[in-house]
Amino acid sequence: MTAPARHQVLDAADFGRVALLLGGDSAEREISLLTGKAVVDALLSKGVQVEPVDAIGRGLAERLLQGGYDRVFNALHGAGGEDGVVSGLLQVLDLPCTGSSHAALTLSMDKHFSKLAFAFSGIPTPAWRLARSLPEARASSRELGLPVGLKPNNQGSSLGISRVDLPVELDAAYRDAARYGSEVIVESWIEGGEYTASMLQGEMLPLVQIVPPEGDFYDFHTKYESASTRYLCPCGLAPDREAEINRHAQAAIRELRVSGWARVDLMLDSRRDLWVLEVNTVPGMTSHSLVPMAAAEAGISFGELCWRVLETSFDRDSSSSGEAQ
Ligand SMILES: Nc1ncnc2c1ncn2[C@@H]1O[C@H](COP(=O)(O)OP(=O)(O)O)[C@@H](O)[C@H]1O
Ligand SMILES: [Mg+2]
Repeated sequence: MTAPARHQVLDAADFGRVALLLGGDSAEREISLLTGKAVVDALLSKGVQVEPVDAIGRGLAERLLQGGYDRVFNALHGAGGEDGVVSGLLQVLDLPCTGSSHAALTLSMDKHFSKLAFAFSGIPTPAWRLARSLPEARASSRELGLPVGLKPNNQGSSLGISRVDLPVELDAAYRDAARYGSEVIVESWIEGGEYTASMLQGEMLPLVQIVPPEGDFYDFHTKYESASTRYLCPCGLAPDREAEINRHAQAAIRELRVSGWARVDLMLDSRRDLWVLEVNTVPGMTSHSLVPMAAAEAGISFGELCWRVLETSFDRDSSSSGEAQ
Protein backbone atom coordinates (compact mmCIF):
# COMPACT_ATOMS: atom_id res chain seq x y z
CA MET A 1 0.00 0.00 0.00
CA THR A 2 1.32 3.41 -0.82
CA ALA A 3 0.97 5.26 2.45
CA PRO A 4 -0.30 8.78 1.83
CA ALA A 5 2.08 11.41 3.12
CA ARG A 6 1.06 12.28 6.64
CA HIS A 7 -0.41 15.74 6.91
CA GLN A 8 1.38 16.77 10.07
CA VAL A 9 -0.18 19.40 12.30
CA LEU A 10 2.14 21.01 14.83
CA ASP A 11 -0.13 23.62 16.38
CA ALA A 12 -3.55 22.76 17.87
CA ALA A 13 -4.91 26.04 16.52
CA ASP A 14 -4.41 24.74 12.97
CA PHE A 15 -7.24 22.26 13.51
CA GLY A 16 -9.64 25.16 14.11
CA ARG A 17 -12.95 24.35 15.76
CA VAL A 18 -13.56 20.62 15.83
CA ALA A 19 -16.93 18.86 16.16
CA LEU A 20 -16.56 15.43 17.70
CA LEU A 21 -19.48 13.42 16.36
CA LEU A 22 -20.60 10.76 18.81
CA GLY A 23 -23.63 8.81 19.99
CA GLY A 24 -26.16 8.80 17.20
CA ASP A 25 -29.15 6.48 16.85
CA SER A 26 -27.38 3.19 16.12
CA ALA A 27 -27.34 0.07 18.27
CA GLU A 28 -23.70 0.97 19.00
CA ARG A 29 -24.65 4.34 20.52
CA GLU A 30 -23.37 3.53 24.00
CA ILE A 31 -19.96 2.40 22.74
CA SER A 32 -19.71 5.51 20.56
CA LEU A 33 -20.41 7.72 23.60
CA LEU A 34 -17.50 6.04 25.41
CA THR A 35 -15.21 6.39 22.40
CA GLY A 36 -16.23 10.01 21.87
CA LYS A 37 -15.76 11.06 25.47
CA ALA A 38 -12.28 9.49 25.63
CA VAL A 39 -11.25 11.27 22.42
CA VAL A 40 -12.71 14.65 23.48
CA ASP A 41 -10.85 14.52 26.80
CA ALA A 42 -7.58 13.59 25.09
CA LEU A 43 -7.86 16.31 22.44
CA LEU A 44 -8.85 18.96 24.99
CA SER A 45 -5.80 18.10 27.06
CA LYS A 46 -3.68 18.70 23.95
CA GLY A 47 -5.19 22.15 23.49
CA VAL A 48 -7.54 21.33 20.60
CA GLN A 49 -10.75 23.33 20.48
CA VAL A 50 -13.16 20.41 20.33
CA GLU A 51 -16.82 20.02 21.25
CA PRO A 52 -18.90 16.84 21.42
CA VAL A 53 -21.89 16.84 19.06
CA ASP A 54 -24.42 14.05 19.57
CA ALA A 55 -25.72 12.86 16.19
CA ILE A 56 -29.01 11.69 17.68
CA GLY A 57 -32.32 12.73 16.14
CA ARG A 58 -33.06 15.30 13.48
CA GLY A 59 -31.31 18.61 12.98
CA LEU A 60 -27.69 17.44 12.81
CA ALA A 61 -26.99 19.58 9.74
CA GLU A 62 -28.26 22.70 11.54
CA ARG A 63 -26.24 21.90 14.67
CA LEU A 64 -23.06 21.50 12.62
CA LEU A 65 -23.66 24.69 10.64
CA GLN A 66 -24.56 26.76 13.69
CA GLY A 67 -21.49 25.50 15.57
CA GLY A 68 -19.19 27.15 13.04
CA TYR A 69 -16.90 24.13 12.92
CA ASP A 70 -13.87 23.73 10.68
CA ARG A 71 -13.67 19.94 10.75
CA VAL A 72 -15.20 16.81 12.21
CA PHE A 73 -13.80 13.86 14.14
CA ASN A 74 -16.13 10.95 13.34
CA ALA A 75 -16.53 8.79 16.46
CA LEU A 76 -19.85 7.28 15.38
CA HIS A 77 -19.85 3.48 15.34
CA GLY A 78 -22.36 1.48 13.34
CA ALA A 79 -25.30 2.60 11.22
CA GLY A 80 -25.45 6.30 10.40
CA GLY A 81 -21.82 7.14 11.15
CA GLU A 82 -19.63 4.21 10.19
CA ASP A 83 -21.65 3.38 7.09
CA GLY A 84 -21.10 6.65 5.25
CA VAL A 85 -24.47 8.30 5.80
CA VAL A 86 -23.15 11.16 7.95
CA SER A 87 -20.05 11.39 5.81
CA GLY A 88 -22.27 12.15 2.80
CA LEU A 89 -23.91 14.95 4.78
CA LEU A 90 -20.52 16.35 5.78
CA GLN A 91 -19.42 16.34 2.15
CA VAL A 92 -22.51 18.38 1.27
CA LEU A 93 -21.77 20.77 4.14
CA ASP A 94 -18.14 20.98 2.97
CA LEU A 95 -16.83 19.88 6.36
CA PRO A 96 -13.64 17.78 6.27
CA CYS A 97 -13.83 14.62 8.36
CA THR A 98 -11.45 12.03 9.80
CA GLY A 99 -10.99 8.61 8.27
CA SER A 100 -12.26 6.99 5.11
CA SER A 101 -14.22 8.34 2.19
CA HIS A 102 -17.97 7.98 1.97
CA ALA A 103 -17.74 5.04 -0.47
CA ALA A 104 -15.18 3.17 1.65
CA LEU A 105 -17.33 3.54 4.76
CA THR A 106 -20.39 2.18 2.98
CA LEU A 107 -18.51 -0.77 1.52
CA SER A 108 -16.75 -1.71 4.77
CA MET A 109 -19.94 -1.62 6.82
CA ASP A 110 -21.50 -4.19 4.51
CA LYS A 111 -19.90 -7.49 5.47
CA HIS A 112 -21.28 -9.30 2.40
CA PHE A 113 -19.85 -6.78 -0.07
CA SER A 114 -16.57 -6.60 1.85
CA LYS A 115 -16.23 -10.36 1.66
CA LEU A 116 -17.08 -10.35 -2.06
CA ALA A 117 -14.24 -7.89 -2.57
CA PHE A 118 -11.85 -10.00 -0.46
CA ALA A 119 -12.79 -13.24 -2.20
CA PHE A 120 -12.51 -11.68 -5.66
CA SER A 121 -9.01 -10.38 -4.92
CA GLY A 122 -7.72 -13.55 -3.27
CA ILE A 123 -7.81 -12.31 0.33
CA PRO A 124 -8.79 -15.33 2.45
CA THR A 125 -12.17 -14.87 4.16
CA PRO A 126 -14.34 -17.63 5.66
CA ALA A 127 -16.91 -19.21 3.31
CA TRP A 128 -20.30 -17.55 3.70
CA ARG A 129 -23.82 -17.07 2.39
CA LEU A 130 -26.15 -14.08 2.66
CA ALA A 131 -29.53 -15.20 4.04
CA ARG A 132 -32.69 -13.09 3.91
CA SER A 133 -35.03 -15.59 5.60
CA LEU A 134 -34.92 -18.45 8.07
CA PRO A 135 -35.24 -21.12 5.34
CA GLU A 136 -32.32 -19.49 3.51
CA ALA A 137 -30.26 -19.48 6.71
CA ARG A 138 -31.07 -23.18 7.28
CA ALA A 139 -30.09 -24.06 3.70
CA SER A 140 -26.89 -21.98 3.99
CA SER A 141 -25.79 -23.71 7.17
CA ARG A 142 -26.44 -27.13 5.59
CA GLU A 143 -24.33 -26.14 2.57
CA LEU A 144 -21.47 -24.76 4.65
CA GLY A 145 -21.60 -27.44 7.36
CA LEU A 146 -21.64 -26.78 11.12
CA PRO A 147 -20.30 -25.00 13.03
CA VAL A 148 -21.28 -21.68 11.50
CA GLY A 149 -21.55 -18.16 12.84
CA LEU A 150 -24.65 -16.07 12.22
CA LYS A 151 -24.35 -12.29 12.29
CA PRO A 152 -26.15 -9.22 10.99
CA ASN A 153 -24.73 -8.00 7.69
CA ASN A 154 -24.59 -4.34 8.74
CA GLN A 155 -23.69 -4.25 12.39
CA GLY A 156 -20.63 -4.07 14.63
CA SER A 157 -19.64 -4.46 18.28
CA SER A 158 -20.43 -8.20 18.08
CA LEU A 159 -24.15 -7.45 18.40
CA GLY A 160 -26.45 -10.24 17.17
CA ILE A 161 -23.63 -12.76 16.63
CA SER A 162 -24.01 -16.43 17.59
CA ARG A 163 -22.08 -19.57 17.01
CA VAL A 164 -24.22 -22.51 15.89
CA ASP A 165 -22.93 -26.01 16.62
CA LEU A 166 -26.21 -27.94 16.40
CA PRO A 167 -29.13 -27.63 13.94
CA VAL A 168 -31.55 -26.93 16.83
CA GLU A 169 -29.61 -23.74 17.67
CA LEU A 170 -30.04 -22.20 14.24
CA ASP A 171 -33.51 -20.65 14.55
CA ALA A 172 -32.66 -18.69 17.70
CA ALA A 173 -29.35 -17.55 16.18
CA TYR A 174 -31.16 -16.36 13.06
CA ARG A 175 -33.72 -14.42 15.11
CA ASP A 176 -30.93 -12.79 17.15
CA ALA A 177 -29.12 -11.61 14.02
CA ALA A 178 -32.29 -10.61 12.13
CA ARG A 179 -33.21 -8.18 14.94
CA TYR A 180 -30.60 -5.83 13.42
CA GLY A 181 -31.74 -6.10 9.80
CA SER A 182 -33.12 -8.50 7.24
CA GLU A 183 -29.72 -9.54 5.85
CA VAL A 184 -27.92 -12.19 7.86
CA ILE A 185 -24.44 -13.56 7.19
CA VAL A 186 -24.05 -17.31 7.67
CA GLU A 187 -20.33 -18.00 7.83
CA SER A 188 -18.07 -21.01 8.41
CA TRP A 189 -16.77 -20.86 11.96
CA ILE A 190 -12.99 -20.64 12.31
CA GLU A 191 -11.51 -22.36 15.35
CA GLY A 192 -8.29 -20.79 16.46
CA GLY A 193 -6.71 -17.56 17.56
CA GLU A 194 -8.09 -14.09 17.04
CA TYR A 195 -5.95 -11.10 16.08
CA THR A 196 -6.55 -7.54 15.05
CA ALA A 197 -4.41 -5.33 12.84
CA SER A 198 -4.45 -1.55 13.17
CA MET A 199 -3.62 1.00 10.48
CA LEU A 200 -2.78 4.61 11.26
CA GLN A 201 -2.05 7.03 8.43
CA GLY A 202 -1.09 4.21 6.06
CA GLU A 203 1.23 2.42 8.49
CA MET A 204 0.49 -0.82 10.30
CA LEU A 205 0.82 -0.93 14.09
CA PRO A 206 1.75 -4.06 16.08
CA LEU A 207 -0.85 -6.86 16.00
CA VAL A 208 -2.96 -7.51 19.08
CA GLN A 209 -4.00 -11.05 20.00
CA ILE A 210 -7.39 -11.37 21.71
CA VAL A 211 -7.80 -14.25 24.11
CA PRO A 212 -11.43 -14.52 25.25
CA PRO A 213 -12.22 -16.64 28.31
CA GLU A 214 -12.05 -20.41 27.68
CA GLY A 215 -14.92 -21.67 25.50
CA ASP A 216 -16.10 -18.20 24.55
CA PHE A 217 -15.62 -15.97 21.51
CA TYR A 218 -15.23 -12.21 21.28
CA ASP A 219 -18.94 -11.46 21.72
CA PHE A 220 -20.46 -8.28 23.15
CA HIS A 221 -19.92 -9.43 26.73
CA THR A 222 -16.29 -10.51 26.36
CA LYS A 223 -15.63 -7.38 24.27
CA TYR A 224 -17.01 -4.72 26.60
CA GLU A 225 -18.02 -6.18 29.93
CA SER A 226 -15.67 -8.98 30.86
CA ALA A 227 -12.46 -8.48 32.79
CA SER A 228 -11.28 -11.97 31.88
CA THR A 229 -10.60 -11.33 28.17
CA ARG A 230 -6.85 -11.02 27.73
CA TYR A 231 -5.09 -8.92 25.12
CA LEU A 232 -1.54 -9.68 24.05
CA CYS A 233 0.55 -6.98 22.44
CA PRO A 234 3.17 -7.90 21.34
CA CYS A 235 1.00 -10.71 20.03
CA GLY A 236 3.50 -13.56 20.37
CA LEU A 237 3.95 -14.37 16.67
CA ALA A 238 7.33 -14.35 14.96
CA PRO A 239 8.08 -10.93 13.44
CA ASP A 240 8.03 -12.19 9.83
CA ARG A 241 4.67 -13.92 10.40
CA GLU A 242 3.31 -10.72 11.95
CA ALA A 243 4.53 -8.73 8.95
CA GLU A 244 2.89 -11.22 6.58
CA ILE A 245 -0.44 -10.96 8.41
CA ASN A 246 -0.21 -7.19 8.35
CA ARG A 247 0.31 -7.35 4.57
CA HIS A 248 -2.97 -9.29 4.23
CA ALA A 249 -4.66 -6.71 6.44
CA GLN A 250 -3.28 -3.92 4.25
CA ALA A 251 -4.60 -5.70 1.17
CA ALA A 252 -8.07 -5.87 2.76
CA ILE A 253 -7.87 -2.16 3.60
CA ARG A 254 -6.81 -1.32 0.06
CA GLU A 255 -9.55 -3.40 -1.57
CA LEU A 256 -12.20 -1.50 0.39
CA ARG A 257 -10.51 1.85 -0.37
CA VAL A 258 -10.20 2.52 3.34
CA SER A 259 -7.86 5.31 4.41
CA GLY A 260 -6.71 7.31 7.43
CA TRP A 261 -7.17 4.76 10.15
CA ALA A 262 -8.78 1.35 10.48
CA ARG A 263 -8.73 -1.98 12.28
CA VAL A 264 -8.89 -5.36 10.56
CA ASP A 265 -10.31 -8.37 12.45
CA LEU A 266 -8.60 -11.66 11.63
CA MET A 267 -8.58 -15.31 12.67
CA LEU A 268 -5.73 -17.81 12.53
CA ASP A 269 -7.06 -21.37 12.36
CA SER A 270 -5.48 -24.45 13.94
CA ARG A 271 -3.33 -24.94 10.80
CA ARG A 272 -2.18 -21.31 11.27
CA ASP A 273 -3.98 -20.26 8.08
CA LEU A 274 -5.24 -16.70 8.09
CA TRP A 275 -8.81 -15.52 7.55
CA VAL A 276 -9.98 -11.90 7.30
CA LEU A 277 -13.33 -11.24 8.99
CA GLU A 278 -13.89 -7.53 8.44
CA VAL A 279 -12.45 -4.02 8.32
CA ASN A 280 -13.60 -1.45 10.91
CA THR A 281 -13.42 2.12 9.69
CA VAL A 282 -14.28 3.82 13.01
CA PRO A 283 -12.60 1.51 15.52
CA GLY A 284 -13.39 1.74 19.22
CA MET A 285 -11.37 4.14 21.34
CA THR A 286 -12.64 3.10 24.78
CA SER A 287 -10.47 1.99 27.68
CA HIS A 288 -10.78 -1.64 26.44
CA SER A 289 -10.05 -0.72 22.83
CA LEU A 290 -7.49 -2.33 20.59
CA VAL A 291 -6.14 0.47 18.38
CA PRO A 292 -4.98 2.45 21.45
CA MET A 293 -3.31 -0.74 22.72
CA ALA A 294 -1.47 -1.28 19.43
CA ALA A 295 -0.51 2.41 19.30
CA ALA A 296 0.89 2.27 22.85
CA GLU A 297 3.07 -0.69 21.85
CA ALA A 298 4.39 1.46 18.97
CA GLY A 299 5.18 4.27 21.44
CA ILE A 300 2.17 6.41 20.47
CA SER A 301 0.23 7.75 23.45
CA PHE A 302 -3.57 7.92 23.41
CA GLY A 303 -3.45 11.72 23.06
CA GLU A 304 -1.05 11.52 20.13
CA LEU A 305 -3.19 8.82 18.50
CA CYS A 306 -6.29 11.04 18.70
CA TRP A 307 -4.27 13.95 17.31
CA ARG A 308 -3.00 11.86 14.39
CA VAL A 309 -6.48 10.55 13.59
CA LEU A 310 -7.65 14.17 13.57
CA GLU A 311 -4.83 14.95 11.12
CA THR A 312 -6.47 12.53 8.65
CA SER A 313 -9.26 15.09 8.20
CA PHE A 314 -6.77 16.99 6.02
CA ASP A 315 -6.35 14.01 3.66
CA ARG A 316 -9.81 14.16 2.24
CA ASP A 317 -9.57 13.53 -1.41
CA SER A 318 -11.95 10.64 -1.87
CA SER A 319 -11.03 10.19 -5.51
CA SER A 320 -7.44 9.32 -4.68
CA SER A 321 -7.64 7.94 -1.14
CA GLY A 322 -7.15 4.37 -2.28
CA GLU A 323 -7.30 3.24 -5.87
CA ALA A 324 -8.91 -0.16 -6.36
CA GLN A 325 -6.47 -2.73 -7.67
N1 LIG B 1 -16.40 -16.92 11.11
C1 LIG B 1 -16.02 -16.73 12.38
N2 LIG B 1 -15.26 -17.67 13.01
C2 LIG B 1 -14.88 -17.49 14.30
N3 LIG B 1 -15.21 -16.42 15.04
C3 LIG B 1 -15.96 -15.46 14.48
C4 LIG B 1 -16.41 -15.57 13.13
N4 LIG B 1 -17.15 -14.48 12.84
C5 LIG B 1 -17.16 -13.72 13.96
N5 LIG B 1 -16.47 -14.31 14.95
C6 LIG B 1 -16.29 -13.81 16.32
O1 LIG B 1 -17.25 -12.76 16.53
C7 LIG B 1 -16.57 -11.49 16.70
C8 LIG B 1 -17.30 -10.38 15.96
O2 LIG B 1 -17.36 -10.69 14.59
P1 LIG B 1 -17.04 -9.62 13.46
O3 LIG B 1 -17.23 -10.31 12.15
O4 LIG B 1 -15.72 -9.01 13.72
O5 LIG B 1 -18.24 -8.58 13.63
P2 LIG B 1 -18.39 -7.18 14.41
O6 LIG B 1 -18.60 -6.19 13.32
O7 LIG B 1 -19.58 -7.32 15.27
O8 LIG B 1 -17.12 -6.95 15.20
C9 LIG B 1 -15.18 -11.72 16.18
O9 LIG B 1 -14.30 -10.81 16.81
C10 LIG B 1 -14.93 -13.18 16.53
O10 LIG B 1 -14.61 -13.34 17.90
MG1 LIG C 1 -15.21 -7.14 14.52
